[in-house]
Amino acid sequence: MKRILSGITPSSAKGLHLGNYFGATKSHLEFQTKGECFYMIANIHSLNTVFNPKEVMANTLNIFTEYLAFGIDPKKTIFFVQSDIPSIPYLQTVLNNAVTLGELKRMHGYKDKLAKNVAQDSINMGLFCYPVLMSSDILLFKPNIIPVGEDQAQHVEICREMGRTFNNRYGNILIIPELYLKKDVARVKGIDGVRKMSKSLGNDIPVFGTEEEIKKQIMSITTDTARIHSSDPGDPQKNVCFDYLQLMEYDKIGLDVMKEKYQKGTVGDVKIKEIVFETFMQYFDKYRSKKKELQKNLDYIHTLRVEGAKKANLTADQTLKEILRAIGLN
Ligand code: TYM
Repeated sequence: MKRILSGITPSSAKGLHLGNYFGATKSHLEFQTKGECFYMIANIHSLNTVFNPKEVMANTLNIFTEYLAFGIDPKKTIFFVQSDIPSIPYLQTVLNNAVTLGELKRMHGYKDKLAKNVAQDSINMGLFCYPVLMSSDILLFKPNIIPVGEDQAQHVEICREMGRTFNNRYGNILIIPELYLKKDVARVKGIDGVRKMSKSLGNDIPVFGTEEEIKKQIMSITTDTARIHSSDPGDPQKNVCFDYLQLMEYDKIGLDVMKEKYQKGTVGDVKIKEIVFETFMQYFDKYRSKKKELQKNLDYIHTLRVEGAKKANLTADQTLKEILRAIGLN
């Protein structure tokens, strides 16, 4: 049976967005019945942007609850919080020796900072070493498949490289996992219609946000900018609303008719956005209700967290032991 591992960083109070759900969480749900799954709320990763301890805790609990609300099942998976696994940062220290400065300097996250004219010397080491921590998250659990969105592909590639370097030195101890990208959803566009949907860019639609927040984001979607009046012909390819409707399984015939009307200039952008909003609220309704229900029982959530940590630590400690023996630290 294949082992699957993935994670999400609780980097803001906004919680999961449409891109996270279709790009990653949905595959995580599908894999639950197909393999042995390890899913983590990667809160140590959030420390390079969230400095308020109360926020770190609240965001961790929030995303943990949202994953449960989506149907991540702790009976079928090993669902845990990264900071509950002490072997992860331990392995990170070991893996620092399996990667070079040059390799880390090629990482997008680091290069993006430089492109924004952030002085190299002021870049947080947490951000710079992010791929080493993520490799530790992965390699410690010996997974075969890593389902993520496109933005994480480079991190998975460096993880594979680090795994190979380690194995070349010490023997075939680590499993080199395969990246799993779902083509059509690996990069869900944000409401600007161009860039990847992302919390930090503010172009996201938060699945568990208030109705007002969701409406505000949807009504400000940038559509075909060449179309000035609603009677002008528009290009459906330049209107991300159609992508969202397709993702949310909007009736195929209805969608084709709407696209045709858009091309002819017989349907307005506001009308389409209203349909996106209604579809969104319907599509995510059961998850939003489930989250509210779960939030009433924090003891239950806490118990699940403790149980998940216990199970994850069993696997993690076993691999760490093997690694320490191999490198001469037992
Ligand atoms: P994070 O928290 O940024 O995102 C969680 C998952 O959502 C995917 N994603 C998207 N997919 C498609 N379109 C988008 N617009 C979009 N935005 C986000 C991400 O690719 C990711 O799969 N470092 C990771 C978390 C992590 C991890 C791991 C993942 C920590 N350890 C080990 C896999 C294995 C991150 O910050 O993802």
